Amino acid sequence: MERSIYEFPDIFRRVHMEKPGDIEREVEFLKRVWQRHLKRRVRRVLDIACGDSPHGQLLAREGVEVAGIDRSPTMIAAGRAESGHGGTIRFHRRKIEKFRIPEQPFDVAFFMSETFPVMTRNADLMSHLKSVGDLLRRGGLYCVDIDRHDGIELIKARRLWRRRRVKAGRVRVDVREYHRPVAWYEVEQPVYELECTIHFPEGDVVTRDLVPVRYTIPPLMELAARASGMFEMIACYSDLSFTTPLAQCYGRWLAVLRRV
Ligand SMILES: C[S@@+](CC[C@H](N)C(=O)[O-])C[C@H]1O[C@@H](n2cnc3c(N)ncnc32)[C@H](O)[C@@H]1O
Repeated sequence: MERSIYEFPDIFRRVHMEKPGDIEREVEFLKRVWQRHLKRRVRRVLDIACGDSPHGQLLAREGVEVAGIDRSPTMIAAGRAESGHGGTIRFHRRKIEKFRIPEQPFDVAFFMSETFPVMTRNADLMSHLKSVGDLLRRGGLYCVDIDRHDGIELIKARRLWRRRRVKAGRVRVDVREYHRPVAWYEVEQPVYELECTIHFPEGDVVTRDLVPVRYTIPPLMELAARASGMFEMIACYSDLSFTTPLAQCYGRWLAVLRRV
């Protein structure tokens, strides 16, 4: 079986081009969104597809109660190890498509790192929103971070999109990103394939992750929220800003859903 980049929590951050201070900026923006749209103090948060929960780690150190769900045991183990150095996070190993966890209701939930569009089936999208909705108080917020989807092109064969080399500590990683074709009637963009050759001193390891990406734009998110019967979309923000219009969005947007 091929290995996944998520087996290497320290390396995946570099591969995903995260820069120092990115997570701090995201957390600060989330807090401003909560202040703006939620009339009460945020005490309990749920981090969806949390990985090692870098956002949750910062919030937990400020005294917020954090729980996270993710399917990757390696990412969760890394999160648990880090969570010992400050506030504690409760990690639950679950799939995001449909889940239940033994937790009291949360004030807010968030889904960062542009991973929400991996849910390509309508049924998964609905059961996901229902699962999150069941864990939120009425009026609670669900903030979802999504990259800007445009320029979709139907391709007929697997195609190299980008090549780059990154360094994670002392380890060099060659990254190749491919697009794979999908049928015209699929709701996906071309499937994203991430191939990393990690040059460890003891030998190379190759990882490969296939990431389906559902075409996700604000009106479709609004529709999905309503269709779930759990949420309404109350705002959309571009690039961690309250003032940048969607038309000028450079990289990503944040959907703010309210539990009805
Ligand atoms: C790009 S990482 C983001 C992790 C974290 N939110 C962050 O900001 O660093 C995506 C995470 O989504 C998780 N993931 C992807 N698909 C999933 C699924 N179907 N169910 C549960 N977790 C999933 C992966 O295990 C990984 O930890």
